[in-house]
Amino acid sequence: MRSIIDILDLSTQEIDELIATACDIIDNPDKYAEKCKRKKLATLFFEPSTRTRLSFEAAMYELGGNVIGFSAANNSSAAKGESVSDTVKTVSCYADIIAMRHPKEGAPMVASMAASVPIINAGDGGHNHPTQTLADLLTIYREKGGFDNLTIGLCGDLKFGRTVHSLINAMSRYKGIKFILISPEELKLPDYVTNNVLRKNNISYTETTDLLGSMPELDILYMTRVQRERFFNEQDYIRLKDSYILTPDKLETAKEDLAVMHPLPRVNEISVAVDNDKRACYFKQVLNGKYMRMALIMKLLGVE
Ligand code: CP
Repeated sequence: MRSIIDILDLSTQEIDELIATACDIIDNPDKYAEKCKRKKLATLFFEPSTRTRLSFEAAMYELGGNVIGFSAANNSSAAKGESVSDTVKTVSCYADIIAMRHPKEGAPMVASMAASVPIINAGDGGHNHPTQTLADLLTIYREKGGFDNLTIGLCGDLKFGRTVHSLINAMSRYKGIKFILISPEELKLPDYVTNNVLRKNNISYTETTDLLGSMPELDILYMTRVQRERFFNEQDYIRLKDSYILTPDKLETAKEDLAVMHPLPRVNEISVAVDNDKRACYFKQVLNGKYMRMALIMKLLGVE
């Protein structure tokens, strides 16, 4: 039995295989319609979600399986004080695989030690979000044809943005990657990511507050939301929330084949006027997430 807590729990070869499976699902969906017949996925979401929970559920239904779960901690016995370990021991009696989101960093890891079925981390606090990274990787693969020699601008809340942390981990394994880390001083990438991932692996990176000045260099621009729910002080959030707003005029110096990505939900970071630009890829990411979650569920359940 195997759980996925961190994107690095998957080797690059396994990620290649998941991408190949996802591409085959896109081309031949009927082939997969009964792959998880009589299997159950439990979605245990202790924190709000639209995309991750519903794409996991859509993924399981499209594989012919069924779904149980809850969408908020207060709809479960966590509200009565039940521990994460007891919750997943219980749900292991009902489901074959669990996707779990929790506001506390490390909660899915704790769950994986107690559960008797695979746990998939669907986002833990400001830490990691490996299945968003799988969606991002399929998007990069389909837009760019591969992962090497890309200059990636990560813009916004790099401190609390868990999707950024997982994506840096994933992309750091490929050749010729350069990161441009664009954020306000207060929302810089945490030292543990800079030191343990970028410096340790000799990955090229620069830190800047300047989105416009960075634009012409970028192959990928990954915008992120300022994570209101992680702030201790509402005033700090209000001061920082609109630090970067991508509008069509700001894309004038960008490459023609730039891929504009965002894990969503967006608040103000990307103007809706950008949605019609052919470089906008964020709703493709949403769909790619479902296909990669289908591939991952099959892999963890040992379905051929
Ligand atoms: N990208 C993402 O995790 O979105 P949700 O919070 O809606 O699941």
